[in-house]
Parts: sequence; C-alpha cells; structure tokens
Amino acid sequence: MTNGQDKQPQAAEAIEAIETIETPLLLEAMFQRYGYDFREYAPASLRRRLRRAMQIEGLATLSAFQDRILRDSKMMARFLNIVSVDVTAMFRDPGFYRTFRDKVVPGLREQPLIRFWHVGCATGEEVYSMAIILHEEGLLERTRIYATDINPRGIECGQNAIYPIRNMQEFTTSYQKAGGRAAFSDYYTARGDSIILRDFLRRNIVWAEHNLVTDASFNEFHAILCRNVMIYFKLPLQQRVHQLIYDSLVMGGALGLGSAESLRFTPLEDHYEPIGSAEKLYRKVK
Ligand SMILES: C[S@@+](CC[C@H](N)C(=O)[O-])C[C@H]1O[C@@H](n2cnc3c(N)ncnc32)[C@H](O)[C@@H]1O
Repeated sequence: MTNGQDKQPQAAEAIEAIETIETPLLLEAMFQRYGYDFREYAPASLRRRLRRAMQIEGLATLSAFQDRILRDSKMMARFLNIVSVDVTAMFRDPGFYRTFRDKVVPGLREQPLIRFWHVGCATGEEVYSMAIILHEEGLLERTRIYATDINPRGIECGQNAIYPIRNMQEFTTSYQKAGGRAAFSDYYTARGDSIILRDFLRRNIVWAEHNLVTDASFNEFHAILCRNVMIYFKLPLQQRVHQLIYDSLVMGGALGLGSAESLRFTPLEDHYEPIGSAEKLYRKVK
C-alpha cells in the first residue's frame, strides 16, 4: 500500500517517462511537416518551452500537441515564437563592442567593401548596435550587413526598427560603456511609447530568414556575430554550426560569441586566436 505522498513522485516519473518517448516523435513530426528541425536542441531548455507551449495551447500531453500542430500551421508559427528565445539588447555586454571597436575595426578599414553576418539576430538590437559602431568609425557606408534568424517575427521587428522607449535608458548606459561617441538619442526619434531608429542606420542591412540547422552558408564575411544562439544547441549541432561559420569567414575575419559561449573543446579551436583577453572575440588564422 502507498500513501498519497508516495504516489506523487511516481506520477511525475511516469509523465517524465512518457514525455521522453513523445518528445522525439513530436520533433520528428515538426521536421517532416514544416522543415523546422529542433531534434538537436539542448533538451532541458526545449522541454521547458514545450511545456509552456502546451500550457498556452491548453493541451495536456505532447501527443495531443503533435496531433494539433501537424494540422495547424499557425500553431507552428506560435511555437516558433516560444522556442526561439529572443532575449536581446542594444550593446549587450558593452565590453564586447568596445573591444570590437579597438581591435577589429582597424583591420576592417583596409577592406574596400565589408560584409557582416549577424546570425540569430533576434529582433535586431545587436545589428543596430554594430551599425552605430560602424557609423561612428566611418565604415557603415561601405558595409553590407546581413541579419538572419530562424524566426520571421524577429526579422520583421528588426526591419521596422521600432523599439519600446522604456528600454532607452538602459541602452544609453550600455552605449556609453561601449565607448559611444555621440548622444545615443541622436540615433532615434521618439513616437509615443516607442522610438524609431534613423534611416541611415537601416539602409545597408539585408534581413532574411536563415535556419542554422538546415540552411547553408551564402557568402564570405569579414565578421560574423553568433551570440547567445548555440547555447541552446547540443554539442554535435554546435560543432556543425562552428564549421558553417568557419567556412563563411574570410581568413583574418572576426567571430563574436556570447559571454557564456566559447570555442574551447570545438575541433576548430586552433584555427582561431582570441582577440583581446576578456571578450568572446576571435580571429580566423588558419
Ligand atoms: C537569445 S537570442 C540572441 C540574440 C542576439 N544574438 C544577442 O545575443 O542578443 C537567440 C536567437 O537565436 C535564434 N535561433 C534559434 N535557433 C536558430 C536556428 N536554428 N537558426 C537561426 N537562428 C536561430 C532565435 O530565434 C533567437 O532570435
């Protein structure tokens, strides 16, 4: 005989065991039906997002979720918004931008035409931060910035360049810490609760959907930023993405990763050298 307290963990274990069977089936179904491949995403974070999606959709099991998503493409779009963690900010980790300005920009000056790739650009704040740095360094006019993400909603937001005004105080502080040379408010116009970034910052940016899991490289770049994207991937997928990035960088090109990411333990580690000591910036050297 068991009491109620004993039953609780048993029930949780049973649910866990069933979800372990259901999850790969659901991910396979999404891939087969829509081409979105989350099979190699880190399981703990993916599981949290699946639970959240089930809650929002009012579904009790992953099997029910699978049944519905196979027949409802709008549900797939909603899930994409949940699974793609779009937390971002302008001049996120200001030291990164300062090091970029001091150590990478001098090399870029030698290029007649500069190509940049922001991989996993979310809603575009990172892209515009870099556009501001390039503008202040006199390089924006001859730079083509490609900004890509798996999520079309993020791309649309980046294209519109409209952001909540409530974030501007924080972004101004980060801009100053990143070595900003003007008043941050020079770069936008306020409209009610929002701001819109100035046109000249938007001109040289190409926005596009690109899925790191299933899409190939599409150019060679002098700098690639792939920050806070691979942390959501399992190791083998991280390594494939590193290969894709390596193949897309010119020799001497710069790679920027997020503060919790690193090239350590990747097979390509010795093809790069660190730029600066503290920030996750690397130069392709062989
Ligand atoms: C946390 S945000 C990072 C945003 C920005 N790079 C930064 O560091 O502030 C992660 C982004 O990666 C994108 N992402 C996730 N899986 C992806 C994939 N397979 N291909 C391209 N982008 C992906 C998400 O949609 C999300 O916008």
